[in-house]
Amino acid sequence: MFSKPKDWVFSDPRLLDLKQDYSAYTPEDFKVWKILFERQMPNLPKAACEAYLEGVEMVKFNADEIANFEKLNKILADTTGWQVQVVPGLIDDDLFFGLLNNKRFPSSTWLRKMEQLDYLEEPDMFHDAFAHMPLLTNPHYTGFLEKISGIALKYIKDPYAINILSRIYWFTIEFGLIRENGELKIYGAGILSSAGETKFSLSDEPLHLPYDVRTIMNQAYWKDKYQDRYYIVDSLEQLYGSLPEIEEVLEEMLAEKEIRS
Ligand SMILES: [Fe+2]
Repeated sequence: MFSKPKDWVFSDPRLLDLKQDYSAYTPEDFKVWKILFERQMPNLPKAACEAYLEGVEMVKFNADEIANFEKLNKILADTTGWQVQVVPGLIDDDLFFGLLNNKRFPSSTWLRKMEQLDYLEEPDMFHDAFAHMPLLTNPHYTGFLEKISGIALKYIKDPYAINILSRIYWFTIEFGLIRENGELKIYGAGILSSAGETKFSLSDEPLHLPYDVRTIMNQAYWKDKYQDRYYIVDSLEQLYGSLPEIEEVLEEMLAEKEIRS
């Protein structure tokens, strides 16, 4: 079991002195943000969930201004109390979950290049900011992030447990759908930052399955192509409310593995 004090993450040397240097963004960066923003934003009033659409108004994202973390942090401080923490791209699991468990959302500050508009191997700040940050104004979304990270930290030394939890994270925070007024909408950031997957995920092509913790924890996922299935929650409250079941099923799966080995 993991037993460092909860806020150890703030003095972790992997994060020291990382800040968004807004003056370092080039005209190409501004152009990339604008193209991606203008390509995706018109799709969202029909495709994104209400919490995202409310959030995007609150954080005041627009086509001409790359997300500014200083301004954003002031807005988030007054809503859910979350903050954005700059990280150097993909980070270790303990740091990732440690930040989330302390209400800090890890984000990169670099933007993809013009020739990478449609495909990226690791998330850039268009994904981290445009797709995730509006939802950081929603307390069910942030509560879920904080608590699932608390569970992950308890099992951080067990790669099997982290793999199972990452399936939940993947099929909810990154690729989750929600049913609102009888219609499918998107809250998963991996979809919201992709114009192609926005269309695909809501089409008749993939499977649309009800959110079920046990099913998802037994379901592997793909990182390099569109998902063939998406799981639908009825509300973000339902997602938040599923945390005790996630921990229960995890403990069960770990006990079963123990018996098998
Ligand atoms: Fe993400």
